[in-house]
Amino acid sequence: MAVLLLTVCGLVMVLCLCFALLKRNQIRRYLPPGTMGWPFFGETTEFLKHGPNFMKNQRARYGSLFKSHILGCPTVVSMDPEINRYILMNEGKGLVPGYPQSMLEILGKNNIAAVHGATHKYIRGSMLSLIGPASIRLHLLSKIDMLLRSYLDNWDGKTIDIQERTNEMALLISFKLIVEIESSQIYETFKKEFDKLVVGTLSLPINIPGSNYHQGLQGRKRVTKLLRQIMEERRASSVTHNDMLDELLRNEDSNYKLSDVEIIDQVITILYSGYETVSTTTMMAIKYLHDHPRALQELRDEHFAMRQRKKPDEPIDWNDYKSMNFTRAVIYETSRLATIVNGVLRKTTKDIELNGFIIPEGWRIYVYTREINYDPFLYPEPFTFNPWRWLDSKSLESHNYCFIFGGGTRLCPGKELGIVKITMFLHYFVTTYRWEEVGGDKLVQFPRVEAPTGLHIRVSKY
Ligand code: HEM
Repeated sequence: MAVLLLTVCGLVMVLCLCFALLKRNQIRRYLPPGTMGWPFFGETTEFLKHGPNFMKNQRARYGSLFKSHILGCPTVVSMDPEINRYILMNEGKGLVPGYPQSMLEILGKNNIAAVHGATHKYIRGSMLSLIGPASIRLHLLSKIDMLLRSYLDNWDGKTIDIQERTNEMALLISFKLIVEIESSQIYETFKKEFDKLVVGTLSLPINIPGSNYHQGLQGRKRVTKLLRQIMEERRASSVTHNDMLDELLRNEDSNYKLSDVEIIDQVITILYSGYETVSTTTMMAIKYLHDHPRALQELRDEHFAMRQRKKPDEPIDWNDYKSMNFTRAVIYETSRLATIVNGVLRKTTKDIELNGFIIPEGWRIYVYTREINYDPFLYPEPFTFNPWRWLDSKSLESHNYCFIFGGGTRLCPGKELGIVKITMFLHYFVTTYRWEEVGGDKLVQFPRVEAPTGLHIRVSKY
């Protein structure tokens, strides 16, 4: 009897093992083609070294959906516009944001990219009520006007690093919109810690003293402490403020009541998401305008024509902003040509079928949108800076495959605010100054758009 039992148990175990192996092989068989590179390191080095060319080579070999192992995770890369669109539109089917652990730990557990479903809807609603078009029209636009007018004052006769200045502008303006009064006293300390936080989000999650990740966590701790202090002081005082933090604290008037930790994560997210995106797009717009005098002339004409309708110190209002079609086209064309965002990351919460392949649960999907920006059918002569293309076809912005600001339920909620900041910067810059490049500065396009030693320009009165 015992022998029979043992034999049956053994048979069952063998069958289970066979089934598991079969299942594994099936999944393997149904994964998209591709290579996984070295154990642990995968193909990260090739990806970082050859960037867009690595992606294009893999696509040529394996098609628009291929597997790889990059940045520490088994990953499926999608370069197919239709599949990319499907992924962005179908978060509910188990395709949630898949940003690295280091990023989520540092930006906070209530950070918008870390939450899904109903919580995401709520956090996003709160975010849009703070930075969406209605808020821009009512409060933010006039403040940004004032802040940028003063930021760009006094540049005459100077040689500056425009990368450094646009970087400073992007954080400073957001910070002042969040904490108007306190910003002047604590900005320098805050920026120092915030910059550590930013570097930490893009690091390997190794928490040992001296590592970028450790510094990032320390940065978050100090940023949180500074924000908590301000929140406590404001609660203890009867003075009201006209800024985003006050709006977040005045829970009782709001449709969106957030806890203190949620408020802190929301503030960090706003500062983080609108930092490099806005600063790099502004820097690259200045670069492209410098290299394309006809586009610069048309942009200047638009701004001077608008200025002529106004008194010298009158701020720009929503209607003025909305009338600046060419400026908007310059911003879109800059984002497209420079590709400030290469793509977005998702991860599967269950096995997902994509284009006939099975992507196992827990895999990352790199929705790689960069190449769509250079598709000659969408953008004829794709490597030419041609802002006019956005005027000729009004629908280009809302084209199904225009992913400059993402898409679906995660479409950038700061899109309009970002465009407003860049527009206002350009307004005061091109109507006050002319500029020439000092020359010789190198620009790197991948994995981030940056000028490693700065982008130096000589500025003089226009
Ligand atoms: C030129 C400027 C900008 C570009 C190119 C840009 C691009 C993007 C892209 C591609 C996404 C999609 C991410 C994903 O699907 O995972 C996104 C999301 C997001 N952006 Fe922007 N962005 C810009 C400016 C801003 C600004 C100024 C803010 C805030 C003040 C902001 C806040 C956000 C937030 C909070 C999300 C996450 C939305 C969600 O998960 O629901 N962005 N952005």
